[in-house]
Amino acid sequence: MNELTLTRPDDWHLHVRDGTALAYVVPHTARQFGRAIIMPNLKPPVISTAQALAYRERILAAVPAGVDFTPLMTLYLTDNTPAEEIRRAQDSGLIHAVKLYPAGATTHSDAGVTDLRKPAAALEAMAEAGLPLLVHGEVTDPDVDVFDREAVFIDRHLAPLLERLPQLKVVLEHITTRQGIEFVTSAPATVAGTLTAHHLLLNRNAMFSGGLRPHHYCLPVLKRETHRQALVAAATSGNPSFFLGTDSAPHPKHAKESACGCAGIYSAHAAMELYAEAFAAADALDKLEDFASHFGPDFYGLPRNKTRITLRREEWQVPDSYPLGDETLVPLYAGQTLRWRLR
Ligand code: DOR
Ligand code: ZN
Repeated sequence: MNELTLTRPDDWHLHVRDGTALAYVVPHTARQFGRAIIMPNLKPPVISTAQALAYRERILAAVPAGVDFTPLMTLYLTDNTPAEEIRRAQDSGLIHAVKLYPAGATTHSDAGVTDLRKPAAALEAMAEAGLPLLVHGEVTDPDVDVFDREAVFIDRHLAPLLERLPQLKVVLEHITTRQGIEFVTSAPATVAGTLTAHHLLLNRNAMFSGGLRPHHYCLPVLKRETHRQALVAAATSGNPSFFLGTDSAPHPKHAKESACGCAGIYSAHAAMELYAEAFAAADALDKLEDFASHFGPDFYGLPRNKTRITLRREEWQVPDSYPLGDETLVPLYAGQTLRWRLR
């Protein structure tokens, strides 16, 4: 197989930031994907419908002329999100989910939720409206080992939440562990999970190969090989509860190569090529279209895209960096060869 033609895929988890960065990163995503779920962890966070709709306009202004790309907006859940804000979001028709960042779990999460019982009214309104909760599933308890934070979050917070509100639609984002896969697999169809290309391709050794590799640091952090294998098995299983979400997260080079480097891996420059690499390694390219283009819109109740993309078997070298305003951005697989290329 030298060419792979697929229904145009969507990215169900993406960071594009704001301001001048938009013009540098949005075109990478818009080239490949029809739609993307846009993360609301700006500074200040996107907590209202009005803020989300204004942010949507700024993103649309960064889409290159002639390219058909739709940003799907989200709200950032706080302890105080009112139920009316959820209804406003739903009525807008342009906001498709609400994001849960446990306070302090990751980049720009300080305004996040300190206790999942606090936004109870908002969560009930979401369950009623069918608006999914997108979960950054990690505990913030410093006593919990950083590699165990996802599994502990599921036991302490996610399972109890779903017991209280079984009708709530939930996406466990960027799953990194076998326990995350098992949770989604055994949950009802209202619970899904996204998988990133970097967690499918790399295990935690990639952070330490020959020295400290800050461009392989993200949250949830890369895990050991047995977990990576569980993620690949889920992505290629044909189970509709698992679909594509890159978590592409641009940070300037200097903020990554620092004494206290930011979490985030940039993969939007070659997202589908990277997923193709992971699926080819598992001899499962025939499963890529369902994962990348079908299961996500089916879960969100949106139509599948009508256009198509083609990946060709062709070697190309990923640039060492891309511009990001006055700064630069180091992409995943910088300087390395990929074996698939989007036409
Ligand atoms: O690695 C990450 N980067 N994980 C997150 O949860 C946030 C993201 C970002 O915004 O940079
Ligand atoms: Zn993210």
